[in-house]
Amino acid sequence: MFKSLNLGVAAVALAVSGAVSAGPLGIGSTATPEMIAGWDIDIRPDGTGLPAGEGSVAEGEGLYEAKCASCHGLFGEGAGRWPVLAGGEGTLDTAHPEKTVGSYWPYASTLWDYIHRAMPYPAPQSLTDDEVYSISAYVLYLNDIVDDDFVANKETFAQVKMPNEPNFYIDDRPDVKNERCFKNCADPKSFKIVTTINGVTPTGHFKEDSGVAANHYQGNPSDANGGAAAPQKVAMSDAATAGKAVYDKACQACHNMGVAGAPKVGDVAGWTDRIKQGMATLNDHAINGYQGANGVMPAKGGNMSLSDDEVKNAVAYMVESSQ
Ligand code: HEC
Ligand code: HEC
Repeated sequence: MFKSLNLGVAAVALAVSGAVSAGPLGIGSTATPEMIAGWDIDIRPDGTGLPAGEGSVAEGEGLYEAKCASCHGLFGEGAGRWPVLAGGEGTLDTAHPEKTVGSYWPYASTLWDYIHRAMPYPAPQSLTDDEVYSISAYVLYLNDIVDDDFVANKETFAQVKMPNEPNFYIDDRPDVKNERCFKNCADPKSFKIVTTINGVTPTGHFKEDSGVAANHYQGNPSDANGGAAAPQKVAMSDAATAGKAVYDKACQACHNMGVAGAPKVGDVAGWTDRIKQGMATLNDHAINGYQGANGVMPAKGGNMSLSDDEVKNAVAYMVESSQ
């Protein structure tokens, strides 16, 4: 019954407006193959999507100098602060990684796609397919990835191997595909928020004495220890909780990664002996600075606008995060 009613409505709509698109509401029009082709311009790593046509490194040189070098530099070195396109090999795992087409990009297809889609910056999609082939070939040449006699086309371009490709792989660490766990959850009614500070996630309900933490971890399969061991101490003192913001602002630049000899926060072994000195000494060293065996701790981390109490809170945060 309902079915035939629907058909009747559709038939009326068709009769009224003539060519109506697919779909129950009759809105819009069916995309033509030409329209789809205009959007379907992505090139995949295996070369799928590369069009016919070709271009050589030699042809690319002149085009690049005319259309790209003003921003990206004659050798891809980047003019002013425009992006660098060449060089940077071997820098990715240093303190100053330089990500370029040659040092970083995993697939040559991205270069074709990117230039075709977005460059030159002031006139995107103004290049012919042949021009994109030759300019792409020239950028690869600037990166020492192809020789000066390279001619790029659908076949040859798809065969180009980028030096950094092996470093891109599917992340297979177990923690990225954990199943969601809705078992043995704590009863939300038993949560008790003991303290809140604006901008800081409240941790009060994990206070050991609230009884919630123990429930939460007991037998909980997401607990790394399978729920067997006693719950880890996750609560922090109020001073430490307040100190996190100070730490993030004034201390983490050195203490997160261990820059310039600074002890890393969270590195329990690195902090054991320091903590043994007592809070008074640690606070004094943080407030007034000192020269230690590993380096110089500047007074207040160099941020003299901090009050002594703020620095003490930051120290509390660092200590409680590192034991
Ligand atoms: C007016 C300046 C300008 C010109 C001319 C120009 N580009 Fe760009 N190019 C840019 C800017 C800006 C970006 C960064 C865009 C972004 O990140 O959104 C960029 C990004 C790129 C990138 C990606 C860099 C990366 O590592 O992310 C490539 C490749 C590139 N351009 C190639 C070219 C080629 C080839 C030409 C000539 C056909 C060209 N560009 C012309 C300004 C320019
Ligand atoms: C410019 C880098 C730098 C910044 C910023 C910095 N520290 Fe340090 N800090 C150090 C270095 C280096 C040491 C280790 C010195 C040594 O023992 O050789 C250190 C050590 C410490 C220690 C251990 C003291 C001891 O006696 O063992 C504490 C506590 C400390 N910093 C607190 C802070 C606090 C709080 C801040 C922010 C307000 C901060 N630091 C910012 C470099 C820095």
